[in-house]
Amino acid sequence: MSASRSSQRFRHSKLSLFVALATVVAAARAQLSPTFYASSCPAALVTIKTAVRAAVLLDRRTAGSLLRLHFHDCFVQGCDASVLLDDTGNFTGEKGAGPNAGSLRGFGVIDTIKALLEALCPRTVSCADILAVAARDSVVALGGPSWTVPLGRRDSTTASLSTANTDLPSPASSLSTLLAAFARKGLSSTDMVALSGAHTMGQAQCQNYRGRIYNDTDINAAFAASLRAGCPAAGGGGASAPLDATSPNAFDNAYYGNLVAQRGLLHSDQELFNGGSTDALVRSYAASPAQFSSDFAAGMVRMSGIGVLTGSSGQIRRNCRRVN
Ligand code: HEM
Repeated sequence: MSASRSSQRFRHSKLSLFVALATVVAAARAQLSPTFYASSCPAALVTIKTAVRAAVLLDRRTAGSLLRLHFHDCFVQGCDASVLLDDTGNFTGEKGAGPNAGSLRGFGVIDTIKALLEALCPRTVSCADILAVAARDSVVALGGPSWTVPLGRRDSTTASLSTANTDLPSPASSLSTLLAAFARKGLSSTDMVALSGAHTMGQAQCQNYRGRIYNDTDINAAFAASLRAGCPAAGGGGASAPLDATSPNAFDNAYYGNLVAQRGLLHSDQELFNGGSTDALVRSYAASPAQFSSDFAAGMVRMSGIGVLTGSSGQIRRNCRRVN
C-alpha cells in the first residue's frame, strides 16, 4: 500500500473512532433529564445549591475545587463519581493518581451534601449527579454563567488509577496534546479552550508551574519574576499561586486576557495562546465575556455527559466514598 493511502486510511479510522465516540456520548446524554428528581427528590437541587453556597462563603477556593472534581471525574471512566472512591485493602481508587494526589480538594463538601440527601431521600440521588450540580453551582457562586444540568447519572462500582494517570492532561502538555486529550473524550477544540477558562478560579502548586517560570520564554518577565520568590528553582515545596492573578475569586474572562499578556500560570494555559490554532478564540473570549460564558456553559453540558451510567447500570451509592 502506498504511504499516502495508508495515511488516508489512518485518518479515516481516526475519524470513524471520533464519530463513534461522539455517538456514544450523545446517546448516553439523551437518557439524562433535567427533571430526573422532580418527583423522587424535589428538594435535591436546592439542597445542593445551599450547601455549595455555604461552603464557598467559608472558603471561596472551594468553588474551583468542586468544579475540578467534576472534570477529574468525567475524564476518567466518564462522569460516574469514580473519583470519589477511597482506597481499601482490596480496592485502589483514583485519589492516588499523579494529577489527583495532594491536589484534589472538596471531598468533605460532597460528603456533607450526600448525607443531607440521604436523610431527605434515601438511595435516590447519585454522587455523580451531585458532582455535576455542585460544579454548576460553584461557577454561579463566583458570578459565572448558569446552565441546566441534565440528571440521572448513576455511580460506578469501580475506579481506574491507570486511566487517571493517562487521561488527565498534564500541565506540561503542548497544544496538540491538549487537543488530543479532549478529542478522545468527544470534546472539540472550542470546548477545550472554553473549559480551560475554569482556570479563572483556584490555585496551582509551585511544582506545577516551576518549569513555566524558569524555563519558558513565552512568559511576561515581571510576572515570572514575581512568582519565582515563592517557588524556588530547585528542591521541593514552594507556594501556591492563583491560576488567574487578575481576579482569583471571580468567575470571569480575565484568564484569557492574562494569556494574551503572556501571564498564563501553567505551561498548558499559555499553550492556548502561543501562535497556534487556538489564538483567535482566546482573543475572542478575552474581548467577549458573553461568548466565553455561553461556550463555557455549552462545553460543561457536553463534558457532564461523557460516558455516563444510566438506567440499571451502576448503583446509587449511599456513601460516595465506597460502593454499597
Ligand atoms: C486543559 C487541560 C488542563 C490542565 C493541564 C489542567 C491542569 C491543572 C493543574 C496542574 C492544576 C493545579 C493543581 C495543583 O497544583 O494542585 C489545576 C487546577 C484547577 N483546574 Fe485544571 N487543568 C486543565 C483543565 C481544566 C478543566 C477543563 C477544568 C474544569 C472545567 C479545570 C479546573 C481547574 C480548577 C478550578 C483548578 C483549581 C482547583 C483548586 O484551586 O482547588 N481544569 N488544573
